[in-house]
Amino acid sequence: MLGAPGAGKGTQCKRIVEKYGLLHLSSGDILRQKIAYSVERIADRKELNAKRYPLNADLMDSGELVPDEVIVEMMAGAIKKTPQAGFVLDGFPRTVNQADRLDKLLACNGKRIDAVLNLKVNDRIVAERMTGRRSCPQCGAVYHIENLRPKVEGICDNDGATLIQRSDDSLEVVKNRLKTYHRQTEPVVDYYRKHNTVYDIDANKDADEVSAQLIENLDALAKE
Ligand code: AP5
Repeated sequence: MLGAPGAGKGTQCKRIVEKYGLLHLSSGDILRQKIAYSVERIADRKELNAKRYPLNADLMDSGELVPDEVIVEMMAGAIKKTPQAGFVLDGFPRTVNQADRLDKLLACNGKRIDAVLNLKVNDRIVAERMTGRRSCPQCGAVYHIENLRPKVEGICDNDGATLIQRSDDSLEVVKNRLKTYHRQTEPVVDYYRKHNTVYDIDANKDADEVSAQLIENLDALAKE
């Protein structure tokens, strides 16, 4: 699943994996879990910076990408453990180098990409979505203060945890994340157009309409 920050990748991946019984592998979620794990163990920020994942936390907070080496190694570990039924990648690959490394990694593991789902969204809509996003720190559920509200304001519907705003969802950082996306990740879409079937999805629409487009394409693909 490709798309700009805030295109709705996480929201749609959660729906797709539930419908088709797949595994959701989000590079951003895995990074945040690793950072949280490290932060719990090391209180001093200077010491944190000497460690690998907290160093990545600074890059994420500024809207830059984490180095390819770190990401590819991290995702390789996750992909090796994926079930037979299949999986959806969210947030990975994000550079042409990562896409190339992923192809080799999948080939080595006897796996392949069946479909590339490209969520297309306008930058202005991205800014609105990201600054209004609220996430559950426990189960990862994603809400929006206007578009996808929890039943009780500020509380996760699934587990009652207090919702948080991600540290990289400020307007300033969102602008930089969009720049990073256009510079480094958009070329990945062109990479896949040369090698795979890419399904372009209009992700400016509301979440249910986006899901319907995805399901229509995936159902057609399953019948082939
Ligand atoms: P990551 O966590 O992957 O963030 P991202 O790609 O920037 O995407 P987001 O999770 O912010 O947005 P989303 O598209 O999932 O949207 P969502 O569904 O939440 O990466 C974070 C950082 O980690 C990166 O900046 C980088 O530093 C690092 N990183 C990760 N992977 C990396 C890699 N491969 N290489 C290098 N570095 C990497 O929706 C957003 C909001 O909109 C929500 O509030 C939601 O409720 C709402 N919403 C969703 N869809 C709709 C809709 N259709 N209509 C209205 N509202 C909607």
